[in-house]
Amino acid sequence: MGRQNEVAVLRAAWQSAAGGSARVVAIEGDPGIGKTALVETLLTGISAPVVRVAGVSADSKYPWRILDEITRRLARARPEGRPGSMDPLASPSFVGQGLTEALQATGDVALLVDDAQWADRASMAALQYSARRLRDDPVLLILAYRRHGDDSQLEFQTVSPGLSKSWRQIFEGEHGLHLALDGLPPEDLLRLAAANGYPGLSPEGAGRLHESTGGNPGHVLELLALLPMHSIVAGSGPLPAPRGLAHTITLASASASPRCARSPASRPPPRRSRRRSTPGCSPRCPERAAASWPSPRS
Ligand SMILES: Nc1ncnc2c1ncn2[C@@H]1O[C@H](COP(=O)(O)OP(=O)(O)OP(=O)(O)O)[C@@H](O)[C@H]1O
Ligand SMILES: [Mg+2]
Repeated sequence: MGRQNEVAVLRAAWQSAAGGSARVVAIEGDPGIGKTALVETLLTGISAPVVRVAGVSADSKYPWRILDEITRRLARARPEGRPGSMDPLASPSFVGQGLTEALQATGDVALLVDDAQWADRASMAALQYSARRLRDDPVLLILAYRRHGDDSQLEFQTVSPGLSKSWRQIFEGEHGLHLALDGLPPEDLLRLAAANGYPGLSPEGAGRLHESTGGNPGHVLELLALLPMHSIVAGSGPLPAPRGLAHTITLASASASPRCARSPASRPPPRRSRRRSTPGCSPRCPERAAASWPSPRS
């Protein structure tokens, strides 16, 4: 609900990709802001093959986790595709070239890397190689990620697409698209509440929820589940901060390191989306490769 502009822009990106001009899309925003919900609105309407993978915090340190997953899913999306075997000595550019060829061979394909702030570094390096080389190809690559994640270690921050200058260049380039999500307006919160089984929300209550959450739908749903409706509708004064928001602030504070102490990304997240750069956190070289993309034609 809501997000009509973003959905329209995403559909146009898919049309371009399906028409043979690859698109690399960034969807950036706070936890709960609706990144996954937005992407799914697009992807569920696509009849072409869709490959979905997602970063997992606990797997961030294991090289090639995400690429491995993409390999398997992409192979399933192509009748003649086979996962192949991994070469532990391959470099990210070799793997990235293989990924590029596999995507080109699949054609008319959408690849979503959700929670990309937790994708492993090696996979992100290979994906980035591929993102730079996809041009006249019917491929849509979407990276959805938290602006700075809630990772406490610098090594995760350096691969987060939200903090990497080279990813930014791609998103802002000819084939790129960058969407930074804001909260939903109060009128959309009324619809969100009704659609989720909270029909009694008043416009005033929606206004209070908006004030307390910045319109973050995940946080709004959390408050609606926690608080009696009458205290939202008839109460006065600020509502309690949603736990999700407090959790994010705590983790963002914990992630501050001497190198990044002045980086905006180490501050608690704002309610509003904002583009930012992090001069103190340049991307590090990816680790030596430990696997290779199987040849799509093997
Ligand atoms: N536009 C929307 N309309 C209806 N529900 C929404 C919308 N956006 C988000 N939601 C709901 O809000 C909750 C959080 O959304 P979602 O999981 O997409 O957030 P996210 O940005 O992907 O968060 P995370 O960073 O934790 O992955 C979900 O229950 C989702 O269904
Ligand atoms: Mg999500």
